[in-house]
Amino acid sequence: MKRDIQKEVKKRYGQIAKSSGSCCGPANAGCCATAPSAEKLSTEVGYTMAELASIPEGANLGLGCGNPVALASLQAGETVLDLGSGGGIDCFLAARQVGPKGRVIGVDMTDEMIRLARERACPWKKAQSTLSSPTASSIFPPTRKRCSARFSGC
Ligand SMILES: C[S@@+](CC[C@H](N)C(=O)[O-])C[C@H]1O[C@@H](n2cnc3c(N)ncnc32)[C@H](O)[C@@H]1O
Repeated sequence: MKRDIQKEVKKRYGQIAKSSGSCCGPANAGCCATAPSAEKLSTEVGYTMAELASIPEGANLGLGCGNPVALASLQAGETVLDLGSGGGIDCFLAARQVGPKGRVIGVDMTDEMIRLARERACPWKKAQSTLSSPTASSIFPPTRKRCSARFSGC
């Protein structure tokens, strides 16, 4: 049962990742004329336009339910764990704050999401980053403990 649900969740987010960049990108968008943009959805849940302009194009898929980086008071050099990192919006925002001595670990079980975030992270590099695709619950507890800040968007 749990595996079936996980499979469906991965399938849906995989489709969203693959359709990003098309005009019908955000979740549940039925058609281009009526779909709210990822930018609109994100500002409604607490991201500022300046933040959205500061990250690589295409990293914001309009899937968030809040802006964890705005609440986290991150410091330079910290290690951040982002569970359910999607296209990497919060990883990129966190990377700006922790800087080159910090580290951001993005975890997402949907391979297509990780691929999308890696494509955007590659030329960008503001902090050391790792983007990988285990499930959130399988992250080794000592790894979690080593991270001074942890978000979960899954
Ligand atoms: C609502 S989206 C949020 C993405 C991103 N945090 C954002 O704000 O745009 C949730 C993400 O969590 C991932 N996810 C859901 N359950 C997960 C789990 N158990 N382990 C790892 N990733 C998971 C999905 O693949 C999806 O990309």
